[in-house]
Amino acid sequence: MISASIMPTSQKEAIYLLEKALAQGDLAELRIDLIQDLDISEIGKRFDKNRIIVTNRKKEEGGLFEGSESERVLPLIEAMEEGFGFIDIEVSSKENLETLISKKFELNSKTNIISSYHNFKETPSTIKQIFDQMKNQGQDVIKIVGFANDISDNLIIRQLIHNAIADKKKIISFLMGEKGEISRILCNSWGSFTTYAPLNDQNNTAPGQVPLGILKDVYRISSIKNDFDIFGLIGNPVKESIGYYVHNKLFSYYDFNGIYLNFLVDDLSKFMNGFKGEFKGLCVTMPFKEQIMPYLDEVDEMALKIGAINTIKKTNGGLFGTNTDWLGALYSIEKVTKIKGKRVLILGAGGTGKAIAFGIENNGGELMISNRSRKKAEDLSKKIGAEIVPWEDRNDANFDILVNATKIGMGTGRDDCPMDEKFFDKDLSGITIFDAVYSPINTKLLQLSEKQGATVANGLDMYIGQAMAQFELWTGIKPSIEKMEQLSKEALKLRGA
Ligand SMILES: NC(=O)c1ccc[n+]([C@@H]2O[C@H](COP(=O)([O-])OP(=O)(O)OC[C@H]3O[C@@H](n4cnc5c(N)ncnc54)[C@H](OP(=O)(O)O)[C@@H]3O)[C@@H](O)[C@H]2O)c1
Repeated sequence: MISASIMPTSQKEAIYLLEKALAQGDLAELRIDLIQDLDISEIGKRFDKNRIIVTNRKKEEGGLFEGSESERVLPLIEAMEEGFGFIDIEVSSKENLETLISKKFELNSKTNIISSYHNFKETPSTIKQIFDQMKNQGQDVIKIVGFANDISDNLIIRQLIHNAIADKKKIISFLMGEKGEISRILCNSWGSFTTYAPLNDQNNTAPGQVPLGILKDVYRISSIKNDFDIFGLIGNPVKESIGYYVHNKLFSYYDFNGIYLNFLVDDLSKFMNGFKGEFKGLCVTMPFKEQIMPYLDEVDEMALKIGAINTIKKTNGGLFGTNTDWLGALYSIEKVTKIKGKRVLILGAGGTGKAIAFGIENNGGELMISNRSRKKAEDLSKKIGAEIVPWEDRNDANFDILVNATKIGMGTGRDDCPMDEKFFDKDLSGITIFDAVYSPINTKLLQLSEKQGATVANGLDMYIGQAMAQFELWTGIKPSIEKMEQLSKEALKLRGA
């Protein structure tokens, strides 16, 4: 079940938001902290009150209610008298919890009492004791929410839920913070009574919160069968990636029982120890593309040459690592021109530059490398035997294909261009310009080059090419190019790129 959380500031807004929350969620969590003109009885008459959780959270518990403890409990008692499905009271509010439990007994009420514990700083090591102290207090549902300081904290929550179920207790448990995002997505499959999500159109962007529409339509948590395989991205940062959208939508499109998660990892060794048994495949991004090597049982020849991994698959022989970045770049370039026999200048000798360089060499291109810091260009040139073009001479080099594998032109630097103005003074017809940057798709480099008659190839096609190879490796299904294009564009639009 998904509970849509809303925090209106008036009765009118409560009615407006409850309509949306109950239309989109299985339950609605109505936070009444800020409602001065609350009329619980009217809400009970207008809506399916069985599906509403009434919560009044005070400041110390992360809420906004400023009244006294005795004022706080009154609307909860009223909600019980009106026969609402759920009321939520913090376990720290011991007297109020006892009042509500005895009231429930006195009224023979069917309202479920949720007693909740929130920790905004950490996932406490005493979480099991906290649960044990709570479990016999007479509530109907125990809610324990912590904060994830490390991705492995999610495994603690999974264990907690399993223990609660073994104890025959209803529990709601997940973690706040970006590193806790996966618990909000997976907690229902672990046995949590519900997860919580903000409404899509509410401006609720606390880290780790996953909007309700994304939980349902992208992660499919209401419809997915519980024996799904886990895939995902490890890196730091991960939130800019569009993979969560593309791969989950592809799983759904091909009816593949898998889920793709973003793992925001600080400590790679801790992650690999804790999660090795959990996933079937991973994408790997910065800063782990090279660091991941020692954790793999088998690496393909090309990835070994490149010295970087962007894809992992679990096989019978253990973890297999490969690199699909070069396949993606070649896919994009070869859509518009053949590489064999062409002079190719690569700007950038970082992870992507290296992968593309080996791909170009593999496909018979004549390689030149230019990198801002010369040392990296020299290292790569030594490995692959390419000519070095000093960074300051790149505008005058003679090439058929130019590859931008630097970070110039991406995101907030979208007005920057890796080539100087003078490069665009000439006619560029006959030349192909490929930009690995995909956010934005139509980079400054591509815009200026196209104006001068160049043929252009973009980073979105590179993304598509490398993601198609990953998907096929994991699932055995060759995804449709049209579907990939549609999903990648949707994902970028959703991200506002
Ligand atoms: N389309 C796709 O699917 C896809 C996949 C992977 C990566 N990419 C893109 O590829 C690009 C490179 O990523 P990466 O993983 O290779 O990063 P990386 O390993 O950190 O390498 C960054 C490269 O950019 C250069 N650079 C950064 N800022 C620069 C500046 N102001 N002037 C000149 N050079 C600069 C660096 O030069 P120094 O060595 O001098 O620092 C280095 O060569 C990124 O834009 C990324 O988004 C695209």
